[in-house]
Amino acid sequence: MSPNLDPADDIVAYNRAAWDSLVRKNDRWTLPVSSEEIQRARNDDWRIFLVPEKPIPREWFPDFRASSIKVLCLAGSGGQQAPILAAAGASVTVFDNSPAQLAQDQLVADREGLAIDLAQGDMADLSIFENDSFDLIVHPCSNCFVPNVLPVWKEAARVMKPGANLISGIVNPIVYLFDDQLMDKGEFKVCHKIPYSDLTSLSSEQRQARFDDDQPFCFGHTLEDQVGGQIDAGLAITGLFEACWSEWPISEYIPTSIVTKATKLN
Ligand SMILES: C[S@@+](CC[C@H](N)C(=O)[O-])C[C@H]1O[C@@H](n2cnc3c(N)ncnc32)[C@H](O)[C@@H]1O
Repeated sequence: MSPNLDPADDIVAYNRAAWDSLVRKNDRWTLPVSSEEIQRARNDDWRIFLVPEKPIPREWFPDFRASSIKVLCLAGSGGQQAPILAAAGASVTVFDNSPAQLAQDQLVADREGLAIDLAQGDMADLSIFENDSFDLIVHPCSNCFVPNVLPVWKEAARVMKPGANLISGIVNPIVYLFDDQLMDKGEFKVCHKIPYSDLTSLSSEQRQARFDDDQPFCFGHTLEDQVGGQIDAGLAITGLFEACWSEWPISEYIPTSIVTKATKLN
């Protein structure tokens, strides 16, 4: 990572470069879907994940074939959800901080002849979109990369049409409580507080290691900010499920992610 990029000075710029680097390293969250998956989606056989290991129930989605549905994939590029939803018949815009992640969606769009609008920016500022623009927002587990989630919910609610849904993947903050290295060995030693921030909670060696490896910096938000924040933004929680990610040892004891469906009140 460039020595000029200090995550403490500009977390959005730092995490943009970190995600661009993850694309170059073929990180799993940057790998586009296959042509076979797109073909299945064209035949109405599709599913998307916003958290690992449990897909979003199909009944949470409108019928993309019955009418024109405008979908925003919020902080959701990488060539996964956006092309599947476009192939399923939705009119899709994908918004993300990382040009390299957005390029993965463009790659699938070009390869498959799909129309997907791309926009680059910070999820806390959706000012490029008008009020009441979208019928649906899908937001994969990505607000763990911003220090404050409340502006994200406010902006999402603003750009949703009345009655629109916001489906969000959320990291259960419990995963940030424990010492990382011990947790990898199956030992759970509480050593951090929630809200959690990589900026303030890591030792200087851990910070340097993350920086040297071009890893994004993460944040663990309270459930009050994650769920209450959506309600305060004018949304009603109309669906919720939990899921595990078996790569995280704590998921043997408690689900490590939460998915919410929130509906914009009229
Ligand atoms: C785990 S990936 C999620 C996308 C992926 N399609 C998936 O299924 O999980 C996290 C995404 O959040 C994006 N991101 C991180 N910080 C962001 C910010 N401040 N604003 C917008 N996007 C951001 C990253 O560039 C990355 O594409």
